[in-house]
Amino acid sequence: MNQNEKKIKVAEEALQYIESGCVLGVGSGTTVNCFIEQLSKIKSKIDAVVSASESSSKLLISKNIRVISLKEAGRIPIYIDGADESNSLKQLIKGGGGALTREKILAQSSDRFVCMIDDSKFVSKLGSFPLPIEVIDVASSILALELIKLGGRPVLRESFITDNGNIILDVHNLNITEPIKLEKSINNLPGVVTNGLFAIRPADDLLISSDKGIEKI
Ligand code: 5RP
Repeated sequence: MNQNEKKIKVAEEALQYIESGCVLGVGSGTTVNCFIEQLSKIKSKIDAVVSASESSSKLLISKNIRVISLKEAGRIPIYIDGADESNSLKQLIKGGGGALTREKILAQSSDRFVCMIDDSKFVSKLGSFPLPIEVIDVASSILALELIKLGGRPVLRESFITDNGNIILDVHNLNITEPIKLEKSINNLPGVVTNGLFAIRPADDLLISSDKGIEKI
């Protein structure tokens, strides 16, 4: 199976977690796009979706799936999203698509966070994928210096503005031995909106798609 086929399979599997009549949280990215395709087939089963990005909202609306705001929804029973990397503790790196801030808000607002990945993203140690950090533009150069002090190599994501109007620094070479500690340290830097470590609130269920099928952790 190629990576896209694995994404389709894991998206099909994630449908199992949907409860009748629920408001569902949905993240962003190509795996989530596969999930939205599947969701459109059973859309009458759900009440509405809270979406983590403008692009997911657009796709959901094009499938005639009702999208509501988090303010309207309150807490979310189930949140379904992809990731760029996961370790065995279901701590993640997210933000490859740049939607990390709203994704983190939805993960935090959810009772159950189901994460869909393919086996190439399951790692023993996080950090091969550069850590995305959404930052306020005026702080970018001072933050870059701080991130270098943490051992990273920050690179500005070219021609990219987040749905919140901010920029992204992708930080290479970080030695992420303690994901929770690093997530907190980066959050404490003034000018950081969100970093892409999801370790304080990891996934609850991890679905890993491979040639052998879907493994659930
Ligand atoms: C977007 C994300 C995505 O979940 C992550 O980048 C994985 O994307 P894809 O499913 O396209 O591989 O965090 O901000």
